Amino acid sequence: MQLAVFASGSGSNLEAIFDAIDAGRLPATVALVVSNKAEAFALERARSRGVHTAVMDPTGRDEPEYLGEMRRLLEAHGVDFIALAGYLKKIPAGLVAAYRGRMLNIHPSLLPAFGGPGMFGQRIHRAAIEYGVRWSGATVHLVDESYDTGPVVLQEPVPVLPADTPEQLGARVLAVEHRLFSAALALFAAGRVRVEGRRVFIDEDRRPPVFIA
Ligand code: GRF
Repeated sequence: MQLAVFASGSGSNLEAIFDAIDAGRLPATVALVVSNKAEAFALERARSRGVHTAVMDPTGRDEPEYLGEMRRLLEAHGVDFIALAGYLKKIPAGLVAAYRGRMLNIHPSLLPAFGGPGMFGQRIHRAAIEYGVRWSGATVHLVDESYDTGPVVLQEPVPVLPADTPEQLGARVLAVEHRLFSAALALFAAGRVRVEGRRVFIDEDRRPPVFIA
């Protein structure tokens, strides 16, 4: 698996992917790290490991031109799978189509709850606390043409405690994200996943697709 990781922020999910590869839990190579922000610390994490980086900001750009440049960049690095790890920009439909079934996103809630446009970072955890849910969690899903709506691959619940602040809930969820994302990527790397419309089947003989650490 020749992985491109897209990140807009600190890149702790990227770091967790590097750690999973180093620990032998994910048979993949991070061929490229892409960010829309030159100052994203995720790029520093990549550079410190000698991994190629690219800054591509779609804001205000002609989409077909941006898409062509992105596809050429990915092909030049032999990328066959894309992981969105805290990436805040919409993926152009043309790229979703080119990597259909080969692009995953990690979202810090139990989708479809607390997902969709504008739901990112601490806002998600504040919304969960204010709604009064007992459980939040992390979701790894395939990327389709809109925000956070693709077929669900793995989910894991995280308790919401009475005194939780958004930061405390976020940290508890982030720890699960770090484990869940590389687990989902490893399932694809091992060819253990079959997608049928919205349904994702893992190892046909074991259902439901519940990942128990
Ligand atoms: C975090 O809110 C995480 O829950 C979400 O993206 C944000 C940044 O993650 N997936 P990272 O530390 O940049 O991986």
